[in-house]
Amino acid sequence: MNKIQSLSGYLHEYQKSVHQPEKFWSRIAESFHWKKPWDQVLSWDFNGPEVKWFENAKLNITENIFERQLFTHGEKTAIIWEPNESDEPALHITYKQLFDKTCQFANTLEAQGVGKGDRVIIYMPMIPEAAVAMLACARIGAVHSVVFAGFSSSALADRINDCEAKMVLTSDGNFRGAKNIPVKAVVDEALEKTNTVEKVIVCQRTKAEVHMEPGRDLWWHEAIKDQDTKHKAATVDSEDLLFILYTSGSTGKPKGVVHTTGGYMVYSQYSFLNVFQYEQNDVYWCTADIGWITGHSYIIYGPLLSGATTLMFEGVPTYPHPGRFWEIIDKYQVNQFYTAPTAIRALQAYGLDPITPYKLDSLKVIGSVGEPINEEAWHWYHDHIGKGKCPLVDTWWQTETGGIMISPLAGITPNKPAHASLPLPGVQPIIVDAEGNELKGNNVEGNLCIKFPWPSMIRTTYGDHKRCKETYFSAYPGMYFTGDGVKRDHDGYLRILGRVDDVMNVSGHRMGTAEVENAINEHPKVIESAVVGFPHDIKGQGIYAYVICDIEGRTEAGLIEEIKDTVRNIIGPIAKPDQVQIVSGLPKTRSGKIMRRILRKVASNDISNLGDTSTLLNPEVVDEIIKGAKTN
Ligand code: PRX
Repeated sequence: MNKIQSLSGYLHEYQKSVHQPEKFWSRIAESFHWKKPWDQVLSWDFNGPEVKWFENAKLNITENIFERQLFTHGEKTAIIWEPNESDEPALHITYKQLFDKTCQFANTLEAQGVGKGDRVIIYMPMIPEAAVAMLACARIGAVHSVVFAGFSSSALADRINDCEAKMVLTSDGNFRGAKNIPVKAVVDEALEKTNTVEKVIVCQRTKAEVHMEPGRDLWWHEAIKDQDTKHKAATVDSEDLLFILYTSGSTGKPKGVVHTTGGYMVYSQYSFLNVFQYEQNDVYWCTADIGWITGHSYIIYGPLLSGATTLMFEGVPTYPHPGRFWEIIDKYQVNQFYTAPTAIRALQAYGLDPITPYKLDSLKVIGSVGEPINEEAWHWYHDHIGKGKCPLVDTWWQTETGGIMISPLAGITPNKPAHASLPLPGVQPIIVDAEGNELKGNNVEGNLCIKFPWPSMIRTTYGDHKRCKETYFSAYPGMYFTGDGVKRDHDGYLRILGRVDDVMNVSGHRMGTAEVENAINEHPKVIESAVVGFPHDIKGQGIYAYVICDIEGRTEAGLIEEIKDTVRNIIGPIAKPDQVQIVSGLPKTRSGKIMRRILRKVASNDISNLGDTSTLLNPEVVDEIIKGAKTN
């Protein structure tokens, strides 16, 4: 079904998608079940921005996962769930069972007062109920917003408030490696700062003792007990919201990226099938967390819409031993394995011993996502995990794009280390210089934009359409600006160079420098701060903070720890700075702007050419900063 089989097939499809995009996408969309067909395939205006795919069509995405496929796939395993502890039994959930669970929970949500268009926050560990929660929301037309369960209570509260969520779905705790994280307590704390949430449903996982607020909190197992396992799917419009997912940008507050139903459904399935070249009896595993877009599109929606068997892993790559990923691959005979460069580099650091006990001979395709994969990691992954025979798909995309945009198609596109390579059909990248002039031809480097809509693109930033326009559609009017730099090499293959804005990529997680600065500035002793990324062997980028503070009554070391803790408490452990340098001033231009270029160079230990510092208001501070720099 709509699967490209060869390089010439790809080139042919690509041409069709550019010359007749509406015809191209309508042919693909026709293989789905629509309750009412569309009046128009696409209408768009990037200046609005306003983009509509499959206008006025009606559907339910879960009918496309379940009813459309039950006849052929009912008894097939939809989700293999591997728990944190390797000796706890795994679960194999068939499509029919997942359907029943989804319907039962859809009835539960409705019984608890959630309806079409209501926002539901999902703050849960990687357990099957998290997948059920997402699908049940989609079943009733509610909008899910999954928040990564490693975020702090204030980050969670911000997201609840921004989307005015009516319900929170959570668990008592979260087993992650050797840790037992008290998830419900974080929710309780967040709810002290919010006032829209009426009900909290708590799934029992760790059996930790938790506070249950009378009238507000219910146990999942009790709430579902009397609910039917049949549910008539809500009818939603193609452009109705499917989910909101918060992500960091270059300004302080995370924004709620909005994805709608029809286009997202078509693109997540099409891209999954083609990039990974999934075949019907394959076992596919993506190691992301459902709190990120990769988990949404390539653990849940893309694979399930394709009738695939998707593996969901609760734990971490190094627990109870650094061979856990490889053990799981052998245990379930995984065929497609999709992970992040940061995980690859972390595992590479353990050497080859943890891999030797495993065959890894079931693997057909290996994939990478989230950040540029350096050549060394690419080769290690390709040689030692892919055994030199598996195509490696380096997939470039973003929360905003909803699906993979630039990537080899496994076994079809010739592999080129560290290159995301070629755009998927329907994706029209363009490289521009700072003024927005197109850089045509090969051997060019510039900013990556997309000049034509694709079905799973961002529609707005929740509650603030102006922000969506300013962030993505204003730098280069008439185009979507990705925030990434890119190079087109002599063969016409694309290589992503990383962010060109103030967004860092730490272990594959997006983190705005302003967001971390805002958190640091919350510390009462902090006067001003500036945060930059620096190259980090495992994380890709680390976080380096320069902080001006009132040190009176504290030791420098004590204050640095307090600042790190402040960030951990406000955002979460993933945002904790690796280095904090206390400084007396920050290099500023005469107009008062911090010269980040200098800070980045010092943090990267690259002070040989600092460029012109004569225009600074306070050039003397540069020497002080260099002298006190923390070595990484
Ligand atoms: O800088 C790019 C980088 O991750 C950013 C998107 O982050 P996020 O929205 O969190 O989504 C991550 C998972 C899709 C991009 O702007 N990025 C993602 N994939 C790659 C990448 N950079 C280089 N190569 C990739 N394959």
